[in-house]
Order: sequence, then structure tokens, then C-alpha cells
Amino acid sequence: MCGIVGYTGERPVVPLLLDGLARLEYRGYDSAGVAVPENGGILVEKKKGRLADLREHLNGREFPATAGIGHTRWATHGRPCDVNAHPHTDCSGRFAVLHNGIIENFLPLREWLEEKGHVFKSETDTEVLPHLIEEFYRGDLMAAVRATLDKVRGSYALVAMASSEPGRIVAARQDSPLVVGLGRGENFLASDIPAFLDFTRETYIIDDGELVDLRPEGVRVVDRRGLTVEKKVFHVKWRADQARMDGYPHFMLKEIHEQPRAIKDTLAGRLDVEKGLISLGLESFRPDGRVFISACGTAYHAGLVGKYLIERLARIPVEADIASEFRYRRPLLQGGDLLVVISQSGETADTLAALREGRRLGAQTLAVSNVVDSSVAREADHVLYTWAGPEIAVASTKAYVTQLTALTLLALHLATLQGALPENGREELLKELALLPQKAQALLTDTGAVEELALSLAAAEDLFFIGRGLDYAVAMEGSLKLKEISYIHAEAYAAGELKHGTLALVTEGVPVIALATQPELMEKMVSNIKEVKAREATTIGVVMEDNREITKVVDHTLYIPVTHPLLAPALAVIPLQLLAYYVAVARGCDVDKPRNLAKSVTVE
Ligand code: AGP
Repeated sequence: MCGIVGYTGERPVVPLLLDGLARLEYRGYDSAGVAVPENGGILVEKKKGRLADLREHLNGREFPATAGIGHTRWATHGRPCDVNAHPHTDCSGRFAVLHNGIIENFLPLREWLEEKGHVFKSETDTEVLPHLIEEFYRGDLMAAVRATLDKVRGSYALVAMASSEPGRIVAARQDSPLVVGLGRGENFLASDIPAFLDFTRETYIIDDGELVDLRPEGVRVVDRRGLTVEKKVFHVKWRADQARMDGYPHFMLKEIHEQPRAIKDTLAGRLDVEKGLISLGLESFRPDGRVFISACGTAYHAGLVGKYLIERLARIPVEADIASEFRYRRPLLQGGDLLVVISQSGETADTLAALREGRRLGAQTLAVSNVVDSSVAREADHVLYTWAGPEIAVASTKAYVTQLTALTLLALHLATLQGALPENGREELLKELALLPQKAQALLTDTGAVEELALSLAAAEDLFFIGRGLDYAVAMEGSLKLKEISYIHAEAYAAGELKHGTLALVTEGVPVIALATQPELMEKMVSNIKEVKAREATTIGVVMEDNREITKVVDHTLYIPVTHPLLAPALAVIPLQLLAYYVAVARGCDVDKPRNLAKSVTVE
């Protein structure tokens, strides 16, 4: 995600842009920039680093401009640096564009433009946009932007200015948020409402396929054909701090609901179901040994799912270690082996130490990270980014499901290299993988059942999560989510292991959440559930919608859409995330900032 702000009116624009970006900095903060009309051209000032670095760079200079655009970046393509910061311009410097999203076909477009003589300065996908506008501009910026969008595939909230039309801003939305703030003799544009909430509460929420023509005297919204769209004014009632969360009460709930988009963005440009293709940009890597996975916390739980998927699909032996344990067991890792480290922040000290140990032992290394140019991304031989956008809540949710998505792609990629996957099995998996975003969305449309169940669990002292195979890995994640934000003591257990001791703790009314999404393990799971029911436990089943067996056995059932069993973890975890969230809210806990914890643990 990135932060976008635009303004046209009578106020000095640069201070207004910087203040607006400051309210959006949670959306991305690795570089920032502004563009304003000046002396018949467009002046662009942009810097790597935080917004404060840009302010320092501008050093209080006065700018006469009363229209302009600004951007704070969450890098997707192209490392954070001055040149890759937005806004981007065309060859002539007559057009400035900033963008939030991913232009999936930017490479062929860049080649086409370079053949026409356009000269590129950055590594970003975004830079194709100003050059396309330059190519199509015949005196009307809106027409040039519409022609540009006819060539572009991907997700965007894009904002453009032309030096020949200084008070005019043109924007377009597809999949990335864009809102208009309506003023008197002035108008605003942003990726989120807080950017202009000090000036107006009257807004248009721009929808996919719509374009905005912003001028001081008014705002026109059109569709891709250029036909006017009548927009309803939306009056914002949120407080400013709440607006940063798009009206959600906590970042964690917002990020849970962002998961369908996060999965879709992580698949974008990598999975082509029609062609049955996976392209990860890892063509140069050919592990011919074993695979090791190392990470912490939620990322480690994702790694356990990754272990299962790689062994099942690529038939390669995989060892998964908690990063803080990895190097102390003297792992028998050697050249030709592959070490995969997983880290949302890319800065976790234990994980970084595991990566360095893997490199010292001569293994190839691959980082799965959510932050472009993070420490693990920089130090690994290869990187497979998750595109979840900034994850603010301490409890990791959308990062986890995008790690599962990336690891599934990796397992399929390795299986292809090994020739280990029969064609029909591969096709079915790819089809179901592409359907994950909408199946995740189905789980988020009506969360009433989970909210009700959460109220009944809020007073629990102890709680168990059990499962077998992949469900055991998801049980671990569900247990961590619950305990880290609600402070209830929760434990994850291999369902078949309970009877070897821990069953002694299961007494009347103790809640046991049983994950049962794996058909081949269903019979065994039913008997494990009966075991705990025989001790008067309160049982909650998490099952696929077509499973009516378990519902006869448990006290409560949480259903997930039917999917390929190997993809079930990304769906089964969602009710567990929601359960943890609503239990924590019911217990009055500080959901986004739980006690004793930090979002990124940069000490060993
Ligand atoms: C997860 O909810 C926790 N906040 C924590 O376990 C986290 O997953 C762990 O610290 C790893 O962080 P990373 O992914 O940034 O390396």
C-alpha cells in the first residue's frame, strides 16, 4: 500500500500535501515525494526515507503553487531510493504521476516505450505511466490517462498532473483505494480519508473503473468511456484517528479483512491459471539438496505449512526450525541445500541470524518477506515478496496468509523443477489457488457466528487447539493468536498426542477447538474429538462446508468454504483470527498493542 494526496485550490499546497501524507504514513514509509507546477513545468522533490527526511530536504522552502500531488511509498517493484520514489515523470518532465498498486504488464510496456525512444530512470513498474501519458497526450490530460489505462493491466490508484494544465489533477482507481474531498473553491484527493479530514467531511468514494477530474471549481467523475458518473456524497462521521483504520475499531480487524486483497496481490503476476504457469522470478535457482525453513512465531507456523507442502508436492525432504533454535543445533546444512527464511518485517534478529548461519554453511538462501529491501531481503540470495501491504497490528494476520500463498507457489515451483507433480493434480491446485481470495472473502462477509462464539469463550482460563497434519500447524497459529491478544492460556496439540498426557488437563467445560479440514485424517479426528467430549470438554469444530460428520460430534461448528485440502490452512485460520480478535475485545484487551510484545523483535 502507499499513501496518496492531491490538492487543487487556493492554499499553499506543499505544507498541505506533507501534512496529508503524515496522516497516511502508516500506509507506507520507505520514501516520499511531491510534485507541483512551477515556472511552466513541474517541480518534483522526492527522497528515500521517512516523510521527515523529505521535510528536511525541502527545508522550509516557500512554493507558490496551490495545486500538487504527494506520495509516501510502500515499495513493491524497485528498492527504496530517491530515484524509485514517487512521483515519476516522463522524458520531457511535462507529466508527473504517482501510483498505489501493481502494474502487472509493466515489463512489455516498458520495452514498447523504450523502442519508441522513451528513456527510463527508475526500476519501478509505475514509471511506465507518465511515459504512456506522454505518448498519448494531445492537449487533454483526462483523454491521455484514459488511453493509458487501455494499455495497462493491474491494480492502481493513480494520480497525474500536466504542466500545460497546472490547476488540474486527473486520477483513476482500480483495486486500490481512492477518495475525493469536496471543498469550496478547492478539492482534495487521497488514498484515505484522514489526509483531508481537517478540511472537509464531504467525500466521494471512488469505485473501480472510475476516473476523477479534479479542479478548484469542481470535481467530475467519469467511467472508462468518459461518461459522467453521478456520485453520492458520503459524509464522514469518523474521528480522525479512526479514519486511519477506514472505520475499523482496530488495525487487526482491518488487516484481517484485507486478507482477500493481500492474497490476490501476492498471486498477481505470478500465477496464470489458463497457462498453468507459475512465474516467481526464481529461474536462476536450482536447489539440488534438501530444504530448510527457519522463522519465528507466526512466520514459523507458516513455515510448518510450507514444509508439508514442499514435501507433499515436490517430494523434497524439508526441516523446519524455530529460528532462535536453528543455529544452536548445528544443522547439517550444506552447499546445494536451500534455506528459506520467513519474516513479515524482515528485521527479526533471530531469523536474520539463522539466515547468516545458512549462508556461512554455504546453502542457497531465499527470503519470504513483506518489506521490500528489508534486512533479510537484502542478505538472502533470492527473495519472494508477500504483497500484504504494511501490517500495523502486533498480531500478524494478513502476513501469515500471504506467507502461505508464497510458500504454496514455491512448493509448486519446486515440484515443477522436480517433475514431481502429475498434470491433473497441478491444474486442480492452481485453479483452487486462484479462487482463494474470493473464498477468504466469503468468510469475512458474515462473522456473526464467530462473534457469538467468542463471547462464550471470553471467560475461559485454558483452551486447547488440536489438529492433525496441516491442521496441527494451523492449530499452532490459532493458539498463538488467541494467547497473544486475549492473554488466555491456550495450547496447540497434535490431536493424536493428547492421550499421551495432556488429556489429563481436559475437564468439564474446557474449550477444545478441533481443526478437521483434512479428509484423509477425518476418522482419526472424529475419535480424538470424542476423546475430549468424553471428558466433558466444550468442543468447537473447524471444518469444510461439505463436512456433516463432525457437526454431529461437536458442540459448535465453524465452517470454511470447500477448497483443496492443501490450501485449507489459509481459510481455516480466518475464523481463528476472528475468534482471537473478538475474545480479546470482549476481555477489554489492547488488541493492536498487546502487553509485553512488539511488532518486530530486533533483539535475540
Ligand atoms: C505474530 O502474531 C507475532 N506478532 C510474532 O510471533 C511474529 O510473527 C514474529 O515475531 C515474527 O515476526 P516477523 O515475521 O516480522 O519475523
